[in-house]
Amino acid sequence: MDRQVFQEKFGLTGESIAIKQVVDKIMQISGTDITVLLQGESGVGKDVTARAIHSTSKRKHKDLVIVNCGAIPEGIIESELFGHEKGSFTGAHESRKGYFEKADGGTIFLDEIGDTPKNIQVKLLRVLESGEFFRVGSSKMYTADVRVIAATNKDLWELVDEGSFREDLYYRLDTVKIKLPPLRDRKEDIIPIFRSFVTEFSSKYDSVFQGFSDEAKELLVSYRWPGNVRELRNVAEQLVVLEKSQFIDKDRLQKYLKGRQFHGSTDNLPVLSRREPENDFTNDHPPVDMGIIYRALLEMRTDISDLKKMIAKFLYSSFAEKEMKALPASITRTIDPNDVSSHIREQMDNAGLGIRSVENSSQPEIEEEDDEIESFFADKEIPSIEEAEKILIELALKRFEGNRRKASEALGVSERTLYRKLDQYGLQ
Ligand SMILES: Nc1ncnc2c1ncn2[C@@H]1O[C@H](COP(=O)(O)OP(=O)(O)OP(=O)(O)O)[C@@H](O)[C@H]1O
Ligand SMILES: [Mg+2]
Repeated sequence: MDRQVFQEKFGLTGESIAIKQVVDKIMQISGTDITVLLQGESGVGKDVTARAIHSTSKRKHKDLVIVNCGAIPEGIIESELFGHEKGSFTGAHESRKGYFEKADGGTIFLDEIGDTPKNIQVKLLRVLESGEFFRVGSSKMYTADVRVIAATNKDLWELVDEGSFREDLYYRLDTVKIKLPPLRDRKEDIIPIFRSFVTEFSSKYDSVFQGFSDEAKELLVSYRWPGNVRELRNVAEQLVVLEKSQFIDKDRLQKYLKGRQFHGSTDNLPVLSRREPENDFTNDHPPVDMGIIYRALLEMRTDISDLKKMIAKFLYSSFAEKEMKALPASITRTIDPNDVSSHIREQMDNAGLGIRSVENSSQPEIEEEDDEIESFFADKEIPSIEEAEKILIELALKRFEGNRRKASEALGVSERTLYRKLDQYGLQ
């Protein structure tokens, strides 16, 4: 397959030398089972790359199991990865396969590998080297034929230096490394990727805007894109929907770029209600700017995955605590703190927290997330997103005595995100 066809097929647009090198590397290793380490900031395309690697391997007809190692609470990660036997801990009413077994014959994508606890790292090393592992509570050795792709947005070598990542595991994962540079370091990709998103969304929403001024193009290219391709995609979607039939000049574009850095504030949101208010609303109601609402919804979507991680951790700690308290002290003392009942695990699975399993390379991202969240809250009162976030942030800061680095780690979000949210909610 030639490089351009490959790029179109797997949604890896770009004309920079860097993206060409990435594509060439994926093509070189296609058909092999080699372990791959993907490195790059959030939103640069690690997921897309992992899917392309799986889809060009001989395992493409088997599952690609995606595990977000950073989102699974420490207490249950071993049993999530390797499974457990019936009765191995309180609430383990059934034996259960772990993700390695589920991925047998296929590929496992260990996302945010840098966040894996050290006691699990040694078990990962064994499974990488020999395919062997033990379910929790079992002395029987299992094997799985699994190809591993790992990803991180951290510098793993730095983690090795700090002592939080095993050097031997680092070398084992580092067989083939694919570095995905941030968008600001491959500016040639910005316009082609932006064009592809505009084409996609114009057809999806049956909406077009009337082109771009040269200055606006320059701004697109010179902007730093802290959220990388994901942010570029959001901006393209917003422009297509909210700037229908408009010509985009520099000022118009600027509002979208600035607005993204002041999340939660409506000061920088574009005022986009083009229709006369009286056509849509009775005199009793103030005109509602649908543009602002839609824009806010689009931005919120970016935060959903962060929020899912927070909820996973929160659920784990509150349920586990309640369960321990409900038990007689004599039993409580004998419970391994790593134990959690299967209903927490089930709830988290049902809500899609921690794992997603996909077949082949289709990516029904948004609908999937909406369904997961809806079913998760089916029998619960729904807190507002703001309330939920605020509570979790305060909880984390309290627990880590105001240490923001630790709090952001515990919440499973970047420090940048935490700072933004502190600012947004006026928390200190
Ligand atoms: N080269 C590219 N061409 C077109 N779309 C891209 C490209 N790279 C990434 N994307 C799109 O950008 C979005 C973010 O990409 P992806 O989810 O792969 O990033 P990531 O590196 O896994 O981010 P995170 O670290 O937050 O998980 C996705 O919608 C993806 O389809
Ligand atoms: Mg990803």
